[in-house]
Amino acid sequence: MAKISPLMDQYFGMKEQCGDAVLLFRMGDFYETFGADAEITARVLKITLTSRQKDKEGNRIPLAGIPHHALDAYLPKLVGAGYKVAICEQVEDPKKAKGLVKREIIRVITPGTIIEPSMLEEGSNNYLASVFEEDGRIGLTFLDVSTGEFLATEFSADGGKLSAEIAKFRPSECLVARSADSPLIGELSGALLQRLEDADFDLEGARTRLADHFGRERVDRWGLPGLPAAARACGAVLSYLQSARLSALDHIAEVRIYSPEDFMVLDDTTLRNLEIFRNIRDRSKRGSLVEFLDETSTPGGSRTLRKWLQMPLLSPEDIESRLDAVEELVGDAMLRADLREALKGGGDLERVVARTSCGTASPKDLAALKGSIERLPRVVEILKGARAEMLQGLRGRLEIGPLREVADLIGRAVADDPPSAIREGGIIRDGYDPELDELRSMLREGRGWIARMERQERNRTGIKSLRVGYNNVFGYYIEVTKANLSAVPPEYIRKQTLAGAERFITPELKEMESRVLSAQERSASLEEEIFLSVRREAAARSREIQERAAALGELDVLVTLAAVAADGEFVRPKLNDQGEISMRASRHPILERAMRGGFVPNDVHLDGRGNRFLILTGPNMAGKSTYMRQIALAVVLAQIGSFVPAAFASISPVDRIFTRVGAYDDLSAGQSTFMIEMTELAKILGSATSKSLILLDEIGRGTSTFDGLAIAWSVTEHIHNRVRGKAVFATHYHQLTQLAGVLPGVKNYNMAVKEEGDSVVFLRTVVPGATDRSYGIHVAKLAGVPEEVVARSKEILREIEREAVIEPLASGPRPRKGGTRYTQLIFFDEPRPPVEGADDNGGFMGEGSTSYDDKGEILEEIMALEIDGLTPLEALNKLSDYKRRLHTGDD
Ligand SMILES: Nc1ncnc2c1ncn2[C@@H]1O[C@H](COP(=O)(O)OP(=O)(O)OP(=O)(O)O)[C@@H](O)[C@H]1O
Ligand SMILES: [Mg+2]
Repeated sequence: MAKISPLMDQYFGMKEQCGDAVLLFRMGDFYETFGADAEITARVLKITLTSRQKDKEGNRIPLAGIPHHALDAYLPKLVGAGYKVAICEQVEDPKKAKGLVKREIIRVITPGTIIEPSMLEEGSNNYLASVFEEDGRIGLTFLDVSTGEFLATEFSADGGKLSAEIAKFRPSECLVARSADSPLIGELSGALLQRLEDADFDLEGARTRLADHFGRERVDRWGLPGLPAAARACGAVLSYLQSARLSALDHIAEVRIYSPEDFMVLDDTTLRNLEIFRNIRDRSKRGSLVEFLDETSTPGGSRTLRKWLQMPLLSPEDIESRLDAVEELVGDAMLRADLREALKGGGDLERVVARTSCGTASPKDLAALKGSIERLPRVVEILKGARAEMLQGLRGRLEIGPLREVADLIGRAVADDPPSAIREGGIIRDGYDPELDELRSMLREGRGWIARMERQERNRTGIKSLRVGYNNVFGYYIEVTKANLSAVPPEYIRKQTLAGAERFITPELKEMESRVLSAQERSASLEEEIFLSVRREAAARSREIQERAAALGELDVLVTLAAVAADGEFVRPKLNDQGEISMRASRHPILERAMRGGFVPNDVHLDGRGNRFLILTGPNMAGKSTYMRQIALAVVLAQIGSFVPAAFASISPVDRIFTRVGAYDDLSAGQSTFMIEMTELAKILGSATSKSLILLDEIGRGTSTFDGLAIAWSVTEHIHNRVRGKAVFATHYHQLTQLAGVLPGVKNYNMAVKEEGDSVVFLRTVVPGATDRSYGIHVAKLAGVPEEVVARSKEILREIEREAVIEPLASGPRPRKGGTRYTQLIFFDEPRPPVEGADDNGGFMGEGSTSYDDKGEILEEIMALEIDGLTPLEALNKLSDYKRRLHTGDD
C-alpha cells in the first residue's frame, strides 16, 4: 500500500469525523477540498479542479481550493445547493507549531443550522424541522437557530396535518429517523431530508439532552414528558446541533408547545392558491399577500408578520384584542408615526442575540445590541398614551429592566464605532481596563520615541531624507538613500539593500521595537479577552433580550397593519358567531392596488343557512376567481387581526380554508392533472367541517363533460348535506344552477355582463341568479385566436345549442335565456329576491321521474339486443315496452 503524507493522514481523520459533509480543510490562506468533495466544490462554485500528487506511485487525487477571505462568498452557494459543509481550521499558529499544525472542525453548516447573517434572508425565519412518529402520533418541532425560536407540537398522524405544518413553516432542512416509513416521508415532500440514526430519536437520550439544556423542571412545566413523540423530535434536534458543533446555545431558551388546532389551518394548496407567501406564476414574493402587507420597520417585524399569516387565530377574544390595537393605531396617525420612527433602524435584535450566544457576534454586533436596547425607553414612552390592552401589554413587556446594565456595560467597554474583527484591537474604550490603558500608553510612548528618533537622527547625521519605516519581515528600520550613504554613522547595522537605498537598524531601535510589538500583541489579546467577557455577560441576558425582541416584532406588525388599513381604506371586521361572512363593497387588496381605481367592489353574503353554498356562474374573464379569492383573503386578514378591504364586514372565524383552484400541472409529482384535482377534492371532502370555508373553482374540468358535471353535482350535494360548511363554487356547468331549487342552502349568483351588439362588456359585478352563457368564444377572440377559428366556433356552438347535445339533464327546467343577467342588487338594503328557478323546479329529480339509472338500464338493454335474432313482432313488442317504461317514469 502506498504511504500517505502525515498531512493527508490528518485530513482523512477529519474526513471521518464529519460524515457526509463536504470538508473545507484550512491550509494556510486556502480552504482545500479533496477527492469527491473537490469535484462537488468545483462544480457548484465553478472553480478550477486540479490535482495533487498523493504518493510515490503517482496516484493523483482531485483538489479544489478557495481563498480563506472568500469563504463568505462561497459558503452560501455550497449550503444553498443542499450540501452540509464542515469547516476545519488551523487551531494553532503555524509559526509556533512543532511539526504538523493542529486542526479542528469548528463548525458544520447545514441549510437548517445557519447563523451567519450573510447566508440568511433578513425578514424570514430559517427553520430546522424534526419529525418523529410513533403509535399513530406525530411529534414535530421547528427550531430557528438564528433567532432561538423553538416550537414543538404533537398530533395524530391522520388528517394531513403534518404536510400543512410543513407547508406553513417551510423548513430548509428536516430531520427524520432512518427507519421512518414512507407515508410520513410523503408528507414531507419539498423539505430537504436529513436522515439521522434511530438512536438520535431515543426517548431516554431526548430526556437527558432536554434536561441538560433547559433544566428538568422547566421541561416538565412545558408538559414535554406528556408528549413523548415531540420530546423525541426535540432530542434529535439537540443532538444534531451538537454534531454541527453548535454548543453554547443560551439563546435557545425555551420550547414553546403549540397546538395546530388553535389556529386556522392553511394547507399547502390554499397557501399557494391564495398567494399568501408567494405568487403562483414564478413562486416569488411579487404580488403575494405578505409582500402587500409587509411595511414593517424591522426584520423581526417582518418575521412576526409571516408567523401571524402562518397561524391565523381562531379565538374571537384574541382576534378582537389585536383588532383593538390596530384600530387605535389606525385612528391615531401621530402615534403610528412616532412608533415607526422609534422602531426604524433598530437592527435585528433576535439574530444579534443569537450570534452573541453562539459566540459569533462581532464588536459591531454588540454596539448594535446596545443601540437597540437603548431605544426601548423611547418606545415605552410613546406607548404610555395608548389605551388598547394589547398595546399596554406590549409596553409592559418592553420595559428596559435588567437590560439597562447590559447596555451600560457595552457602552463603557466597547468603542463607539468598533471594527468587525475581534483580533485587531480598537474594540475596547480607553479607561475601561487599567492594564489595557497602561499597555496603550506604552505603545504610544514607544511609537513616539520612534517618531522622535527619525527627527533626531536626521539632525545628527545631516541626512534630510533619512526615514524610519516598518515592514513585517524586518520590523523597524532606518532607510538612507544611496546618495547619502557616506554620511551613515558607524554604529548603524546594515540589514537590507534596495535599488536606490540601504536599510539599517540600531540596537536601541530594536529594543524599542520589541517593547512596542509585545505591548501591541498583549493589548490585542487583552482586548479580545475583555470583549469575550462582555459578550458572555450579554449572552447571559439572552432570554430577556429575546422577550423584548418578540414584543417589538408584534408592535411592528400592529403598526404595519394599521398603516396598511389606513392607506387602503380598510374597515374593522365585526366578528359574529352565526357562521356568517358578509361584506359590503369588498375588494381584492392586491388587484385593487395594481389597478389604481379600476377595481369594482362587490358584496358578499354567506351564512350558515340559506346562503351557505353559492354557485357562481358567468363568462370567462368576468372575475369569478378573483371574487372567491377576495373572500378568502378577507377572512385570513380578519383572523390575523387586520382590517379588511371592504366598506363593511362581519366575519365568523373559520377553522380552515380549502381551495380547489383551476388546473395546473405538477408533473414532478408523477400525477396527472385530473388526479391532482381529485386528490385535492378528496382531501376537502374528508376534512372540511361546518366551520370551514370551501372555495371550488371549476372542479371536474379535467375530464369528460359528463363525468365532470356528475362529480361537481354530487360534490355540491355532499358539501351541502353532510359537510355543511360555507362554500363558493365557480363553474361553467350551467346545469349545476338547477340545484338552487332543490337544496335549501344553495344560491345562484353570476358575474354580470352587458351584451353590446356582437361584443360583451364585463361589469365585474356579482348579481343573484344564474346565467347560461360563458362567452368563451368571445374571450377566445379577445385573446387573438384567428378569426376563422372563432367564426367556425360560433357556427358549431349554434349547432350544438340547437341539438342540445351537452344537456344531459334535459329532464330539468331549461334555463331561461336572457333572464336577470344584469341587475345590480344591494345585498344589505333589500330583502332577498326569490332565486330564479326555485319555484318552477318542482319535482326535479324527485319521485316519479325516471332516474338516470332507469334510463341507463333501458339503454343497456337496447345495446345488448341481438337484432338479427328478433322477429319483427318481437321487435315491436320490445319497442312498446321501452316506451311504456320510459313514459311512466316521465309523468
Ligand atoms: N372586481 C373586479 N374589478 C375589476 N377587474 C376585475 C375584477 N375582478 C376581476 N377583474 C379582472 O378580470 C380578470 C379576470 O378575472 P378572473 O380570473 O377572476 O375571471 P374568471 O371569471 O375566473 O374567468 P375564468 O372563467 O376564465 O376562470 C382579472 O385578472 C382582473 O384583471
Ligand atoms: Mg377563473
